[in-house]
Amino acid sequence: MNNGLRHLAIIMDGNGRWAKTHGYIRSIGHREGVKNVETIIDETYSHGIEFLSLYAFSTENWLRPKDEVSYLMELMDKFISSKSLLKSLKIHRLVVSGCLEGIPANTANKITNLVAQTQNNKGLVINMAINYGGRDEIVVAAKALAQDALDGKILPDEITETALHDRTYNAFIPNIDFLIRTGGDHRISNFMLWRIAYSELYITPTMWPDFKAKQLKQALDDYYSRERRYGALGAGR
Ligand code: IPE
Ligand code: IPE
Ligand code: MG
Repeated sequence: MNNGLRHLAIIMDGNGRWAKTHGYIRSIGHREGVKNVETIIDETYSHGIEFLSLYAFSTENWLRPKDEVSYLMELMDKFISSKSLLKSLKIHRLVVSGCLEGIPANTANKITNLVAQTQNNKGLVINMAINYGGRDEIVVAAKALAQDALDGKILPDEITETALHDRTYNAFIPNIDFLIRTGGDHRISNFMLWRIAYSELYITPTMWPDFKAKQLKQALDDYYSRERRYGALGAGR
């Protein structure tokens, strides 16, 4: 049995539906959702987890109405400029998975600076998936392998899972142990395809703005009660 939990990932879904049930417009749901991110960062760290990946904006989210996309970009800027986040980044490290091209330049620069400034921090590694797609990540890694082969740095026979992993975004981040999706939909929505091969999945109907310390604790208790087998025979079989 191997139930260590180093890497927690969350598909933070349900902001729009949360707003609708409370009689608000979607943007209010996004605003509440962002407020919740810091709570969950603190809680995750207090549970001794090393890596937290958060799905903030997918490569497909550009398909949403222009106004909604602009508001999400505005919120992202507010979030990464907020005093409380900057305070928490005195101990935690920020990294990004995805492509910052396409994100407003001013915001992208602030994010790049925070990534550089926090790279030696020893707290939680907060991996924000921004303009992120799981297939895109695999294509990026495949391109890097092809280039290395062309440059004579690697032979086709030397292309292993490790060689591909080493060319994904933030290769130092391990596989995902536990993936939580809020909002109740039973799908992956192009998140972290490479790193979820043997992740434990947890889908809760709770909408993201309502997913607080208590709900996280419940999810973690569920994780720790499971037996991970990775295709082998488990205990007592
Ligand atoms: C998740 O909430 C936030 C982002 C995708 C940026 P949604 O906006 O998808 O909320 P629902 O799923 O429509 O309720
Ligand atoms: C996944 O949620 C993306 C984020 C949470 C950022 P979506 O709301 O975009 O996913 P679908 O469209 O329901 O699959
Ligand atoms: Mg959604």
